[in-house]
Amino acid sequence: MNSFLDINLGHKKYPIYIRKGLIDELGTEIRKIYGGSKIAVITDENLNCLYGGRLFPALKAAGFEASSIVLPPGEKSKSFDTLLGIYDSLIDSGINRSHLIVVFGGGVAGDIGGFAASTYLRGIPYVQVPTSLLAQIDSSIGGKVAVDLKQGKNLVGSFYHPKAVFIDPELLKTLDKRFLYDGLAEAIKYGCIRDKKLFLALSDYNTIEELNESMEYMIHSCCTIKKELVEKDEKDTGARMLLNFGHTIGHAIEKYFNYEKYTHGEA
Ligand code: GLY
Repeated sequence: MNSFLDINLGHKKYPIYIRKGLIDELGTEIRKIYGGSKIAVITDENLNCLYGGRLFPALKAAGFEASSIVLPPGEKSKSFDTLLGIYDSLIDSGINRSHLIVVFGGGVAGDIGGFAASTYLRGIPYVQVPTSLLAQIDSSIGGKVAVDLKQGKNLVGSFYHPKAVFIDPELLKTLDKRFLYDGLAEAIKYGCIRDKKLFLALSDYNTIEELNESMEYMIHSCCTIKKELVEKDEKDTGARMLLNFGHTIGHAIEKYFNYEKYTHGEA
């Protein structure tokens, strides 16, 4: 299965590709949308260990000179301190507005990497390569990027859309089960708000293997709903708020436990 969706906002349009094994073709795919030479990859330590050996050669093979900014994993990295470190690294690598940022990570790297892209030099182009289920079906799409303050999550941010989103469902094979379930909570939400067939399919899976076999269908279904709501209400003042179904109580639980006990999806 090779799926493709377009996010069409009127003033901007960008593609979402969903394909197994896409990580090894990233260089070729990015070459189609970016003619420059330098890329700064923003990722985390775990992902760099797991996939750096495939990602960087794929970019190099397409003629890119890629530098890396590797963050400690976890929500604590979504801070202004980390952001300043990202700006330092971008400057050290000579990244300017004609270059590209590739964000390779889950929700944390996606949010802070996207926010760095939206603010560095008043905004430089970036692409999202989401690696967690939550990021693949939700946070990498729709342009919401942010960092946390001590008062709460995502309190400083912007709407800044990527040039493209590349989703490789095979990356989920190394995802900790806890974070797979975290993302599945969002998939169940999509079923509840818009897609009875998806909801019933999710209820029917008995094993992770069964789920894995249908992963592309599930990701595609969720992204289709997200696309529809983001296109209707880019800035989250109306229809897009439907995506927050179940989130008010969830955020309260997360915050009550200081974001340390429950993941977003668990809450
Ligand atoms: N995660 C909800 C939204 O993008 O609006």
